[in-house]
Amino acid sequence: MTGRGFIVAALALFTAALAPAQKARWTIGMSQCNLGEPWRVQMNADIRKAAEKHPEITVVYKDAQNDNLRQVAHLEEFVRAGVNLILISPKEAAPLTRPVADAYDRGIPVIVLDRKILGDRYTCFIGADNRKIGRAAGRWIAHFLGGKGNVVELKGLMTSIPGQDRNSGFREGIRGSQVQVAFEADMKWLEPNARKEMESALARLPKIDLVYGHNDPAAHGAYLAAKAAGRAGEMAFVGIDGLPQEGQMYVRQGILSACFEYPTGGGEAIETALAILGGKPVPREITLPSRVYTKENIDRGGEWLPE
Ligand code: FRU
Repeated sequence: MTGRGFIVAALALFTAALAPAQKARWTIGMSQCNLGEPWRVQMNADIRKAAEKHPEITVVYKDAQNDNLRQVAHLEEFVRAGVNLILISPKEAAPLTRPVADAYDRGIPVIVLDRKILGDRYTCFIGADNRKIGRAAGRWIAHFLGGKGNVVELKGLMTSIPGQDRNSGFREGIRGSQVQVAFEADMKWLEPNARKEMESALARLPKIDLVYGHNDPAAHGAYLAAKAAGRAGEMAFVGIDGLPQEGQMYVRQGILSACFEYPTGGGEAIETALAILGGKPVPREITLPSRVYTKENIDRGGEWLPE
């Protein structure tokens, strides 16, 4: 090597040693149980928006189209592909528990979003407290109805934990009042099912004071059924989710008397994923706050539920 060649080679080595390490690239697999509902589209959009700010991560999205088996297959694919972390918003608790545990036991961190699984084989759960939201809805409704009335409860998928918690919380909330659940049905989170169930409720009940839908699509489906039957004016409608373009809009239009916010947790999911990938400790459970929107408070951003 000539003297000049040596200097060039030495300089190259020196610069390489000084250069910052190549940016770490992490792949995150995001398994969404379906994208047929606006709330889930919003969750993915929130994840995408937060992830865009971090070039060191790539998020791969899968849509299980409301099919447990397909969601299980997506998790297995993520494990085979060797992703660095998994985000999952599971359809149902029981069928997704084992594949989440398998991934976790192989050392892949798993963040569960919105719908809980069973047991404790996952890294972190992020979501709002559905029992608390159900209880707040029950209290709000009992107060709104002056302590008594006939309620139709259109329940979310009862094999998913939010459906169970929005039901049990609500029952606690109306306890001690004379509010009665005169009709209840599982609409599996879907507006067309809610509309059909409401048609049965209308056929059966001569007097309905209020419909409590476990999500805004359910409350809206019930409203459409009551409107078609010429009875919408006889009752009030309350829902949960509170998206600006959905529940909040229905409140502004006077279709819903109240709706309770159910934040998607998409932004928090990415923050938590980055902490885990960076080796920082994270809590086992991150509980997101919720608020209630009514005609009176919506222009000032709703009212937060107490801690
Ligand atoms: C969307 C959805 C929301 C609801 C949530 C509960 O699939 O039904 O409307 O708040 O799931 O997990």
